[in-house]
Amino acid sequence: PRKVTISSLNKLKKQHMPITVLTCYDYPTAKNIEHTHTTQDGINIALVGDSLAFTALGYTSTSQLTLDEMIHHCKAVSRGASTPLIIADIPFGYVGLSDEAAVGAAIRLVREGGVDGVKIEGGAKEARVIAKVVDAGVPVIAHAGLQPQRATQTSGFRVQGKTAGSALSIVEDCKAVQEAGAFAVLLEAVPPQLGDYITERLKVPTIGIGAGGGTDGQVLVQNDMVGAFDAFRPRFVRVFGDVGGATGEAIESYAQSVRARDFPSAEESYTIEESKWNEIRE
Ligand code: KIV
Ligand code: NA
Repeated sequence: PRKVTISSLNKLKKQHMPITVLTCYDYPTAKNIEHTHTTQDGINIALVGDSLAFTALGYTSTSQLTLDEMIHHCKAVSRGASTPLIIADIPFGYVGLSDEAAVGAAIRLVREGGVDGVKIEGGAKEARVIAKVVDAGVPVIAHAGLQPQRATQTSGFRVQGKTAGSALSIVEDCKAVQEAGAFAVLLEAVPPQLGDYITERLKVPTIGIGAGGGTDGQVLVQNDMVGAFDAFRPRFVRVFGDVGGATGEAIESYAQSVRARDFPSAEESYTIEESKWNEIRE
């Protein structure tokens, strides 16, 4: 399969073919995504989201995730997937600190983490720093609407753009980040009408999560959609499988088999000739 490119994503938008995006955090979850390309078109963008703080590391907030931790996971992902475009979140703190800090973080994610580009939460206020990262040669997806790294400031994970003022400012955010050179805009938790409105007005593809069915693409958190993480479940999650349930059952039946001395069987054990063993024993 051919490596996904920014131009192939633009082509999908033009042809009204939905763009598929899914998060991944390590070698096996990246392999899950790479594997989809052996039988079909598969997942176009593999996102090493900072949701890895919750889903893989057990933190209670994405703001606890460090850049070194993110890079560690990006390395594993880039070893597991090669066909999708691989994008990493710039962890909390760098974009807010300075343009240099954000550019430095982006370059480390590409050079050390092996990713193709980065995602930056923000809008009009972050347009300048997005332009700097793009100037440095790192492709950027901007993330507008609900911005999880600002969840405390916005009093939790809540739908955005439900007032005229808020909707208008999200539209302005999207235009500003496109102007700054972002090659796509991720739109989180906005009414579907706003998702459609923005998608029709942007030249670059929109990727929605909780933004309705009209965006150019969709993204979900892999652990959520395979049913492997259920600490909380936003409205926009659809659970397509029960990996968590299957894993739990498998572990229970393993423990039962060990206790019943049903595991391991003779077939699961090594063999030695009886005469040989008798020699050893003497
Ligand atoms: O961190 C993440 O997983 C994200 C999403 C939008 C899926 O940013
Ligand atoms: Na994120």
